[in-house]
Amino acid sequence: MAGSRGEFSSRLGFVMAASGSAVGLGNIWGFPTQAASNGGAAFLLVYLLLAFLLAYPALMAELILGRHAHSNAVAALRQVSTHRLARGIGAFTGVAGLTVAALILSFYAIVAGWMIAFCLSAVAALFGLPPVADWLMSFGLPRNILLVTVFMVLTISIVASGVQAGIERWSQRLMPALLLTLFILAVYVLTLDGAMDGLRVYLMPDFSRALSPELILDALGSAFFSLSLGVGTMLIYGSYLSDRENLPLLGGIVTLVDVSIAVLAGFLILPAMYVALHNGVEIFAASGALISEDTLIFTVLPELFATMGLAGTIVSLTFFFLMSIAALTSSISMLEVPVAYVTEQFDRKRRPTAWIAGAVITGISCLILLNFDTLFGLVITVTTRYSQPLLGFMFCVYAGWIWHRNTLLQELKKGYPQAQHSLFWKVWPWYVKFICPLIILAVFAHSF
Ligand code: TRP
Repeated sequence: MAGSRGEFSSRLGFVMAASGSAVGLGNIWGFPTQAASNGGAAFLLVYLLLAFLLAYPALMAELILGRHAHSNAVAALRQVSTHRLARGIGAFTGVAGLTVAALILSFYAIVAGWMIAFCLSAVAALFGLPPVADWLMSFGLPRNILLVTVFMVLTISIVASGVQAGIERWSQRLMPALLLTLFILAVYVLTLDGAMDGLRVYLMPDFSRALSPELILDALGSAFFSLSLGVGTMLIYGSYLSDRENLPLLGGIVTLVDVSIAVLAGFLILPAMYVALHNGVEIFAASGALISEDTLIFTVLPELFATMGLAGTIVSLTFFFLMSIAALTSSISMLEVPVAYVTEQFDRKRRPTAWIAGAVITGISCLILLNFDTLFGLVITVTTRYSQPLLGFMFCVYAGWIWHRNTLLQELKKGYPQAQHSLFWKVWPWYVKFICPLIILAVFAHSF
């Protein structure tokens, strides 16, 4: 079976795919306002430290486990030990991970569907079709079901085509497009009146807020979500890496890209919000904090675009296009987790497996849409607040405690012969053994 497994054709292909997974809605709608409301540049510094000191080691645990096994998370975790109980718990963790990945995708696809709807709405407005444009901006059930299905069909088509012809090829197309769009939008928005106030709010450091323990724990949660940790996504991408690659280096690049794009997004979102303020749009919630997340994206920014005339329609189209591709390169990495498991474990063909798994997940999305008020928030909380940190903890335990230190070193040495003498090897095993699990437990305890 190993011969029929996919593999990324190049280092760049992996970096694009893995950073495509990491860079998503979390980076663009979460990070910038979180930073602005919580100490600006000081928060940024805390976030950077957390990303490199804690999320990066956890990312490495997944990449190394995956590359060593060259198989899906269930098989990889089972393979780490010869002990029956440890093998059983490992397999269970893998199955839990793919279930959580599927559930995360089921709500993520709903939000991504909204992004496509707003993008298409701008297109409809440009073509002089106001009724269609309005319908696409309304949050009605038929629209939501239609667009979640459109988004899932895109996701499934890419995953069905395989690792190289699907995931790698599309990440290599979409990631440069994402970066370019983000850059152009930020430069444009920075020229508008009011933008500099936003920049000031974003970058003015306030250490008294950024160093509160509450906030550090929240920032860690965001960093874990942002690097797609805890459900086997990065493990499966690591498993498609060749033995010639230097893992600590590649993991470092992916972390750097993820953080940089979050920071870059701040140069777009904060100035845009203050341009909106300048144009008379309300940007503060009742609590006095900046409006964030869904209200920011689907209310504040559209109100801003509406004040800008034709230019606003074009900026709206570009912005929601950017959000849609950011979501797509992330969603393919979520769907890949269950698909890789079923194809390998049950010896199934990839294409039908991708369509069936995707259809089931679309069904769950529709179920959430039908019971939106009860299910939407619940699924997000259960998967991202509780399951993800707990599963991330298990991955670190398997890499740090269950896995034999020598095998670990041998794995690292592939593609990195000097590994033994590196700072990474001096620090990381210790880190992933003690620090990462402890911090994750602290975050977890905190969330209760
Ligand atoms: N990291 C992505 C974001 O920031 C989302 C994502 C992709 C994800 N794959 C994941 C989150 C797996 C959790 C688990 O939007």
